[in-house]
Parts: sequence; structure tokens; C-alpha cells
Amino acid sequence: MKYLIIAIPIVMMVACTNNTPPPVAYMEAQNHRSIVMDTGKILFEAKCATCHGSDGTAGIGNAANLKTSQLDSIAITDRIRNGKNGMPAFKGKLSDAEIHKLENYAYRLRK
Ligand code: HEC
Repeated sequence: MKYLIIAIPIVMMVACTNNTPPPVAYMEAQNHRSIVMDTGKILFEAKCATCHGSDGTAGIGNAANLKTSQLDSIAITDRIRNGKNGMPAFKGKLSDAEIHKLENYAYRLRK
């Protein structure tokens, strides 16, 4: 009986250390990233691809090439919110969360 009381925690410890799952924070970060990317893609196809094309290079109506764009994320967010020349302003039409997802997606089209 004495041995069993000592043996059970040891077996449990070994079982746990041999099968360590990835840290929860890491898993949540991965999930968050894929949700942001998926929503960004859907929004981009619906709101942006008509001018920029799915890959950002179509240039319809002088739409800037998003693959070669040099703008940082702050400038991209500003452009989506306020527009410029042929680029429509999306402030009031899209939520801040949606604009954030689009900015993230537009930025990643470069790779
Ligand atoms: C009606 C056509 C049209 C639509 C729809 C459109 N854009 Fe644009 N976009 C443009 C044009 C034209 C420019 C170039 C503006 C300029 O600098 O003269 C531009 C520029 C940009 C730029 C700046 C790139 C750079 O380097 O200057 C970003 C970022 C951008 N668009 C993202 C988006 C996103 C994201 C969406 C969808 C929410 C979108 N656009 C929808 C026409 C469009």
C-alpha cells in the first residue's frame, strides 16, 4: 500500500511529461491568427478584389499594387478608412475590427 501511494504520483508525472501538449497561449495565438486571416480574406474578396484583384495586383481603375506597396500597417489602415483618389473610404461602412482584419490581410499579400 505504501509503495502504491508513492508509485501513483510517479506514474502520473512520467505520463504527463512524456506527452506535453503545446502551451495554451500558443494554440490560442494560432487560432486567432487563422480566424483573422480567414475573415480578412472573405472581406477582401467581397470589398477590395473588384479593383485590386484577389492577389492585390489587378490594378483596375489605377488601384495600387498591394504586393509591391511600401505602406506600413498604420498607413494601410488610414487608406482603408479615409480612401484616396480612386480608393473609396470604408470608414462607417466597415467596423474597426473588419478594417483591422483587412489591413492585416492586405499586408500579408506581399509574401
Ligand atoms: C473602387 C476601386 C477600389 C476598391 C473597391 C478598393 N480600392 Fe484600394 N485603392 C484603389 C486605388 C485607385 C488606390 C490608389 C490610391 C492612390 O494612391 O491614388 C488604392 C490604394 C489602396 C492602398 C494603398 C496602397 C499604396 O501603396 O498606396 C491600400 C492599402 C488599399 N487600396 C487597400 C484596399 C482595401 C483593403 C480595400 C477593400 C476594403 C480596397 N483597397 C478597395 C482602388 C480601390
